[in-house]
Amino acid sequence: MLALLDPRPGECILDLGCGDGVVTERILAAGAAVVAVDSAPDMVSAARERGIDARVIDGHDLPFDGRFGAVFSNAALHWMTRPDAVIAGVRRALRPGGRFVGEFGGFGNVAAATVALTAALGRRGIDARPLNPWYFPTADEYAARLGGGGFDVIEMALIPRPTRLDAGAGAWLEMFFQAFLKAVPVEERQALVEEVAALLAPSLRTPLGVWYADYVRLRFAAVRR
Ligand code: BEZ
Repeated sequence: MLALLDPRPGECILDLGCGDGVVTERILAAGAAVVAVDSAPDMVSAARERGIDARVIDGHDLPFDGRFGAVFSNAALHWMTRPDAVIAGVRRALRPGGRFVGEFGGFGNVAAATVALTAALGRRGIDARPLNPWYFPTADEYAARLGGGGFDVIEMALIPRPTRLDAGAGAWLEMFFQAFLKAVPVEERQALVEEVAALLAPSLRTPLGVWYADYVRLRFAAVRR
């Protein structure tokens, strides 16, 4: 990701969805000046503790005008469900010729868990579709949006990335799928997690008992026209 971004000493880079700032620090280490934004105040506090210029800003409402040479985003854009608003804000933030480089969840990301949760909630009479908080586009769709939003697409690839879950499926579900789990009362969540893990085992657990998350990443680089 950082090689694709190719940060240059002295250039201004916007880190969109910086989280706790671990990756932002690496961009700073390359000599770039970085402004980091995230919609989560606790993440911005954590990034500030690393000495990063981090601000609480929603990626749908970027307030910057033409001052950045590049906008970078890692593992954040799938939380922003109005992609055209995000792309328009990124375009405004970039000078002409500026780069937009990122990676986020792509089409098929966490598909097995989404299907299993949908089935388990359906058995309880709950429609899971409106609970899904993510935007996981195909490469063609995101390329079309970038093109329509004033970018030339340089790279666009959907990359399967099976990721070992050392703590098992239950801990993973509890950490990342609260949007679904919260649909049932607290006292029923453990049973729901166990039911979902049982549904997932045939596709996400190896014969040796190791769990893997079915992550799929969309990696892209584009240039502002
Ligand atoms: C991810 O892409 O990192 C992710 C998305 C949804 C749930 C868990 C992880």
